[in-house]
Amino acid sequence: MAAPHDCAELERKIQDLQQQLIQAQKMSTVGSLASSMTHEFNNILTTVINYAKLGLRHKDAATREKAFDKILAAGQRAAKITTGMLSFSRRGNDTREALDLVALVQEVLVLVAKDLQMHRVRLQTHFEAEPVVAEINAGQVQQVLLNLIINARQAMEAGGQMTIQVRRNTEAGVGEISVRDAGHGIPPETLRKIFDPHFTTKTPDAQGQGGTGLGLSLAREVIEAHHGRIRVESTVGQGTTFTLKLPLVGVATTSRAEPAEKLVKKA
Ligand SMILES: Nc1ncnc2c1ncn2[C@@H]1O[C@H](COP(=O)(O)OP(=O)(O)OP(=O)(O)O)[C@@H](O)[C@H]1O
Ligand SMILES: [Mg+2]
Repeated sequence: MAAPHDCAELERKIQDLQQQLIQAQKMSTVGSLASSMTHEFNNILTTVINYAKLGLRHKDAATREKAFDKILAAGQRAAKITTGMLSFSRRGNDTREALDLVALVQEVLVLVAKDLQMHRVRLQTHFEAEPVVAEINAGQVQQVLLNLIINARQAMEAGGQMTIQVRRNTEAGVGEISVRDAGHGIPPETLRKIFDPHFTTKTPDAQGQGGTGLGLSLAREVIEAHHGRIRVESTVGQGTTFTLKLPLVGVATTSRAEPAEKLVKKA
């Protein structure tokens, strides 16, 4: 039998390995987005260079002001992408806070918009007008979402439509984020395995970029640690929908004893 200090050491090692797996899956995501981000930065630089040239050529105040506006907007867009990517790549902490799921999804979309466009994926979004607040670790849920979106895009080799929805399901007391693709779908015998660690059907591409097969197993772990659920529906040849259900802040689902307004904490 292991001595107590051995147990503590083993636990530390397991935690460390877990962190390494999370990091490996993140890097797989970063790898999938690298090419589209390089393109996007190239476009931003082209905008900056062209408007700087315009401003130098034309001395009038109105043209120069317009040029500065365009350069500023392009710079701010680039900063938004790098900040998002850096905070995603960093090793996160374990703290949770009450956050709007719509805002979280919108932040993730900044990172993938170009990637979807390059792969001829049309994105349709349906967002609840009011904030949908859940107590979450933003970094972890962001990683889950990026994996779902990249999985969905990879399932549509020839492009197609992706639909992302955020809605409040007050009856069930959950906020729901769903990612639907019109891709190749998942056959039933595969569907049973997709949440298994290291299960992947993706083979390395020309850049050696394959899947780690960790995306969905980590997703399930993250969502269940948040007392949420992850659901999948898939039809071969038609597409797949993944839905995350996260408990809404302050909404009691088991107790009906108190009037609802007393149970709603200020978000
Ligand atoms: N939207 C989807 N459509 C079709 N198959 C999917 C979809 N999402 C996941 N899968 C299947 O589930 C498997 C496991 O997905 P998971 O995200 O865990 O790993 P991965 O995508 O292969 O690797 P990584 O996430 O590291 O890139 C995929 O290899 C694929 O076969
Ligand atoms: Mg994946």
